[in-house]
Amino acid sequence: MGSIALHDVTKRFDNGQEALRNVSLTFDEGSMAFLTGHSGAGKSTFLKLLLLLQLPTQGQIVVNGVNISQLPRRRIPRYRQHLGAVFQDHHLLSDRTVLENVALPLVVTSMRARDIATRARAALSMVGLLAKERLYPSHLSAGEQQRVGIARAVVNRPNLLLADEPTGNLDPALSREVMGLFVNFRRIGATVIVATHDQHLIETMGVRVIELDSGRVIRDEAPGA
Ligand SMILES: Nc1ncnc2c1ncn2[C@@H]1O[C@H](COP(=O)(O)OP(=O)(O)OP(=O)(O)O)[C@@H](O)[C@H]1O
Ligand SMILES: [Mg+2]
Repeated sequence: MGSIALHDVTKRFDNGQEALRNVSLTFDEGSMAFLTGHSGAGKSTFLKLLLLLQLPTQGQIVVNGVNISQLPRRRIPRYRQHLGAVFQDHHLLSDRTVLENVALPLVVTSMRARDIATRARAALSMVGLLAKERLYPSHLSAGEQQRVGIARAVVNRPNLLLADEPTGNLDPALSREVMGLFVNFRRIGATVIVATHDQHLIETMGVRVIELDSGRVIRDEAPGA
């Protein structure tokens, strides 16, 4: 689970703006890629298509063998249950503890409370924040808050983890640390795609880099290539 294939995908908005143009790419299960390119290149649009927040104008997106553009509406919630998403603005709830925030995606499932806590603690431990489970978000540093957001995104063990500028507000050292976390998530078998405009940060991380320019793929480089 977690393979992705885009076949000749174009996204054109009503105003004629083409955010993606004839994009064909494949991602193997459990692989990791950074998506980069100038502002407006189409990075967020790419992730929104995978999250089914938008539909392609043309082409096919196949996730785990399923053409997601053709999923019936009622199947979309189940599709999203296997996705984890991280955004620059992490939207933590300020009146819930760190542990409660991380547990949130599981509370809507039928899982037992004790199992939810166990899972949430496992996710917190992956981002090195187990010791802070009882604190509130405002008591954490920006980088810690971002890591809580990441723990929340992986708590339901997604087979696809998508992140859009997850280090936007962080200083270079913290950014590197957070990007390192994503690289590590390959170990839990998830396919990971992280969009960032920070070329400098990702060049040295030994990970596939896909660069978009005005909606087209202009570079797709595996590490060591
Ligand atoms: N709903 C929309 N309607 C019209 N045009 C849009 C819409 N959403 C995005 N676009 C356009 O599509 C292009 C790609 O936008 P997108 O947000 O994917 O870029 P991005 O690479 O994420 O940029 P950034 O680095 O600034 O976040 C831009 O030219 C943008 O103006
Ligand atoms: Mg964007």
